Amino acid sequence: MKLVHVVGARPNFIKIAPVWRAIASLTPFEQVMVHTGQHYDVNMSDVFFVDLGLPAPDHYLGVGSGTHAQQTAAVMVAFERVVQQLGPDLVLVYGDVNSTVAAALVCAKLLVPVAHVEAGLRSFDRTMPEEINRLLTDQIADWLFTPSPDGDENLLREGVAPGKIHRVGNVMIDSLVRLLQTASRSTVLSELGLEPEDYAVLTMHRPSNVDSEDALGDLLNTLIRLSERLPIIFPVHPRTWQRLETLGAGEARGQLRLIEPLSYVDFLGLMSQARIVLTDSGGIQEETSYLGIPCLTLRANTERPVTVEMGTNTLVGQDTGLLTSRFHAILDGDDSWDRRPPAGISLWDGHAAERIARIILETLGRE
Ligand code: UD1
Repeated sequence: MKLVHVVGARPNFIKIAPVWRAIASLTPFEQVMVHTGQHYDVNMSDVFFVDLGLPAPDHYLGVGSGTHAQQTAAVMVAFERVVQQLGPDLVLVYGDVNSTVAAALVCAKLLVPVAHVEAGLRSFDRTMPEEINRLLTDQIADWLFTPSPDGDENLLREGVAPGKIHRVGNVMIDSLVRLLQTASRSTVLSELGLEPEDYAVLTMHRPSNVDSEDALGDLLNTLIRLSERLPIIFPVHPRTWQRLETLGAGEARGQLRLIEPLSYVDFLGLMSQARIVLTDSGGIQEETSYLGIPCLTLRANTERPVTVEMGTNTLVGQDTGLLTSRFHAILDGDDSWDRRPPAGISLWDGHAAERIARIILETLGRE
């Protein structure tokens, strides 16, 4: 049996690592890794392979950047050749990026079974490119591995056959659990001259926040003001750098400190000791919930509602007034913001990938 994994963008690398390892140790199946090249900078790709202990990809498609149509089409054309050459028994795709839906579409047309890791998440916001990628991938995937009960409910409501749905937990948390100790030895805090719990961490790259000059300008002004009370460390995603440069704001201002994107271990080291995290990322909402760190999400909606219901997450959208009041409330010791032990979300326990490997073994092993 031959399993092909497809990854392309930064969050995919964090998700594949535990699955690759679990399949290697629990099953006899051959594994092949295809990297589409959606993310190609050293600090958006290579450093993650090193930190996560991943082998070099077997195939690199080199699709690079472009419009959504260009990027999705380039992955499809290049990946179709790889599938025809390899003849896999199962293809695993991860998350919600353009590479995910492109690879799933290729397989559906070639009648190759697809497994979607992190299935069923919905923001119910179809202006988000990722929501379109999630909806389409889940409709054509044969195996749907979900991280939380809302994922199962969404899929059932959309008519997915119950037998295809497997709730396994959160593979991103698997990577966090494995590397948290290593991250605690990262020198990132001393390199930045920071003390634990005496700074905030910010990440921002969603088109809805960074592609509009007005929205980005308003957010930046608010963040600079907030940083006067607590320094804000801002590892800047490449698409955000481009927008900041257009705005003439590509330099640190006040205590809003702009730095290059960090490796997985350094970012985990920085985030796990932060007082507050501000983000528009999906994965960081989950990681802060697990770590018990207050997270203010710069989005109007989330496809990860358990982080709000059972975790530490608050949606502030682009409401700079709400962002400001929540930020100060946390620093003023608002009781509901006390650091909590790991939130205890069911199956977010570091073993999701093992559950995936066992399900694959049982099913493919029978064939
Ligand atoms: C992609 C995913 C998003 C995910 C994010 C994580 C889609 C639709 N979006 O968004 O869900 O949260 O990755 O980072 O798939 N660039 C570089 N170097 C790189 C990669 C990108 O300079 O290594 C620049 C390019 O100019 C590119 C832009 O960043 O046009 C955006 O990259 P792209 O992969 O299209 O989308 P992301 O914003 O990274």
